[in-house]
Amino acid sequence: MIALHVNVDHIATLRQARQIREPDPVTGALLAELAGADGITIHLREDRRHIQQRDVHVIRETVQTCLNLEMAATEEMFAIALSVKPDIVTLVPEKREEVTTEGGLDLTKNISNLHQGIEQLKNAGIRVSLFIDPEPEQIEKSKEVAADDVELHTGTYANATNRHTRENELVRLRKAALLAHELHLQVNAGHGLNYQNVQPVCHLPHLKELNIGHSIISRSIFVGITEAVREMRALIHTA
Ligand code: PXP
Repeated sequence: MIALHVNVDHIATLRQARQIREPDPVTGALLAELAGADGITIHLREDRRHIQQRDVHVIRETVQTCLNLEMAATEEMFAIALSVKPDIVTLVPEKREEVTTEGGLDLTKNISNLHQGIEQLKNAGIRVSLFIDPEPEQIEKSKEVAADDVELHTGTYANATNRHTRENELVRLRKAALLAHELHLQVNAGHGLNYQNVQPVCHLPHLKELNIGHSIISRSIFVGITEAVREMRALIHTA
């Protein structure tokens, strides 16, 4: 069964627009769990534009399923992760000017620091996932730096404006999933997935976890987070 990890960052985006206490992503995380989410994902960005350090601590204490902390591979973030001890750390590239994570990590560049950071996290009992584009080279490098999982970036698939591009991207994702599995890396995926495009991704071989945020939180505004999570779970399970 494919696990659904709900990313609650955008509840915090709304709160930060007013710099007040509501809506609280902690409440959202707990309701998402009650609705059947298998895990909660949060991204502590260096500019703290949505999730704050307080959220990370409170969510760590209250979430009962699995906490996935997305973060940049910086010294500051490694220190935070080692003190908070999420179940999973997903390392992502981060640019201050981007609206959301644009591409995967480029592991062909400067990976010695990364290797060291991953080792520290793993020694602390934290599973380490790398958010990468579905490219063979990135998967091989993920193995080289001793990651446990890869999260395949589905953004190009999700943003495709025609069937041909979408189909090609699914083929690329499928090949990437097969290679990752062959190298004993757990296969996860995410970014840009919504109620219309999630089902074909569920057929990727060896897929274990999906990280989905924006579409679920957007739908929550209209139908409530319980219904939004349930609907997404149902789509994944019937795919
Ligand atoms: N996975 C990663 C690594 C991400 O950075 C994000 C966005 O924070 C997501 C999944 C979720 O993407 P979306 O909000 O488009 O569902």
